[in-house]
Amino acid sequence: MIDDNKCCAVTRFRSDRQFNDVFPPSIRKFADRHWTPLSVARKVADYLSVKKGSKILDIGSGAGKFCLAAAHYKPEVQFFGVEQRKSLVDEAEAAKKTLGIRNAFFLHGNFMQTNFDLYDHFYFFNSFYENLVWGEKIDNTLEYSENLYHYYNRYLYKLLASRPDGTRLVTYHSVEDEVPTDYQLVGSHLDGLLKFWIKISGLNDVDHENDHPYYKPSRISLEQQEKMIVATGLADRSL
Ligand SMILES: C[S@@+](CC[C@H](N)C(=O)[O-])C[C@H]1O[C@@H](n2cnc3c(N)ncnc32)[C@H](O)[C@@H]1O
Repeated sequence: MIDDNKCCAVTRFRSDRQFNDVFPPSIRKFADRHWTPLSVARKVADYLSVKKGSKILDIGSGAGKFCLAAAHYKPEVQFFGVEQRKSLVDEAEAAKKTLGIRNAFFLHGNFMQTNFDLYDHFYFFNSFYENLVWGEKIDNTLEYSENLYHYYNRYLYKLLASRPDGTRLVTYHSVEDEVPTDYQLVGSHLDGLLKFWIKISGLNDVDHENDHPYYKPSRISLEQQEKMIVATGLADRSL
């Protein structure tokens, strides 16, 4: 006999609308702009799930949609999310329970407090964007600033630069300021909004102290960045 809960949980993954119903309206309303679509989560999970037991970190996990969906598609892999807003971690835990997911885990905190040594591969959905003036904010519980945006990017860049060769990274809606230059692009989807990277050093000599886009022009042009920001739908076009 099929377990009722399991059966309902499976139907949740048939469409984003069905999945998003796992959240209360106050969280669901952010889905289009802030939570990863199921089709993207599946692609990302396929790329990052290198082997059984791999540990994947979602940097800025929100209400947990990416981790929960990826965990559903890849039950043999563990997905972790770090999220600065406690209320969103609580929502993620509640959704995890409703969905009966066992291989997704949520941590409350700033990503800067996270020990990256514990994880094999990483997912990043432009989490720092809300610090930019035109970035759409989830709420007003935090202090935002452009300086913080650059500081976070630089900090993440350093953490990613310190990972071993073979580390995989997926960026979604990112302008790539956080991607160290020894991460090679191995796949690009959705007109460049979704990018798959792998760290392979030794191809060129990288001085991580000085090669950050803070000091050098970003590897993608300003024009391209503007285009991407508009394409994200996150930009307030009235500005
Ligand atoms: C665009 S949402 C992505 C949510 C999730 N990754 C998903 O795809 O469903 C970005 C999230 O990152 C969180 N965030 C932003 N800066 C953060 C930081 N410094 N540390 C931890 N979380 C952060 C935000 O609170 C927000 O919930």
